[in-house]
Amino acid sequence: MITLNNGTKIDAIGFGSYKVTDDLTGGKSVQVVLDALEVGYRYIDTAAFYGNEKEIGDALKMSGIARREIFVATKVWKTELGYEKTEKAIQASLEKLQSEYIDLFLIHWPKETPDDPQWKEKIQGSYAAMEDAYAKGLIKNLGLSNFLPHHILALNETAKVKPVLDQLELHVGHTQDAAVSYLLANDILPQAWSPLGRTRVFKHPAIIAMEEKYGVTVSDLLLRFLLQQGFSVIPKASTKAHMEGNLHPKNFNISESDLWFLKCMPSVGWAGEHPDFEREPVDFRYQAE
Ligand SMILES: NC(=O)c1ccc[n+]([C@@H]2O[C@H](COP(=O)([O-])OP(=O)(O)OC[C@H]3O[C@@H](n4cnc5c(N)ncnc54)[C@H](OP(=O)(O)O)[C@@H]3O)[C@@H](O)[C@H]2O)c1
Repeated sequence: MITLNNGTKIDAIGFGSYKVTDDLTGGKSVQVVLDALEVGYRYIDTAAFYGNEKEIGDALKMSGIARREIFVATKVWKTELGYEKTEKAIQASLEKLQSEYIDLFLIHWPKETPDDPQWKEKIQGSYAAMEDAYAKGLIKNLGLSNFLPHHILALNETAKVKPVLDQLELHVGHTQDAAVSYLLANDILPQAWSPLGRTRVFKHPAIIAMEEKYGVTVSDLLLRFLLQQGFSVIPKASTKAHMEGNLHPKNFNISESDLWFLKCMPSVGWAGEHPDFEREPVDFRYQAE
């Protein structure tokens, strides 16, 4: 468990649901979420953009698990920034999730496009809508995603409620140290999206050597690297075997020296997305087959 800056406790390991849609799972998206709940996940990460909030709502109902036992995080997409649009997006997420409240609501990206001149006003408006929903009890925690320190500073000009976490692409090979050090200094939890680098780092020789050294699987190594630093992680998996492995990564300690080695590796596996710059090509050099 990790305690957030407002006292809320969350599981360090949640289930990521990007691409858990009927199109991509042969109509099994509800079953995948039910499998994750059966394996023991009690934190589900979704987003309006993922197109699966309804299926997650269905799975929550079908599981028979009390709603209060499950922590559900969702996000407003970058085309819906600004007070009115975000207010509507919150309502739409509540309806699709078939829930009276959302445990954590995030702004998915701080800008619709890198050159949007209105980005500050838009995120300030979105956050104000989230604060109003928070005051009404519709959202229990407010968070950010893909916000870099200067985006948070813009939000701070008007925000009244501190965000609890910032979800960033974080994995061996993409450690975003500047953003992470700002978050830690400001008591905002770094949460890792693509903690497994979406398998794009699996075949890197240094990572394979480190797995062999510790006698662990690649997911054990990649998740322990983040958990040991106190970050939360939301790996996605389709099979129960992967779900199990990720929820219970081997409990071992990466030495201080190896942790620095992994943190200082050259960039590997980056998805190529940055809020302030046009998209770069995805780094597939070490992708698992
Ligand atoms: N905020 C954002 O902008 C943002 C962006 C991207 C993602 N996210 C969130 O973060 C979550 C996780 O990120 P992600 O889905 O991009 O990537 P990820 O969790 O790093 O990697 C998922 C991939 O790893 C494979 N995998 C999972 N467990 C494994 C294991 N134990 N051994 C071997 N392979 C394994 C999965 O295969 P199988 O599916 O075949 O098991 C899948 O191909 C997303 O689902 C989403 O909730 C947020």
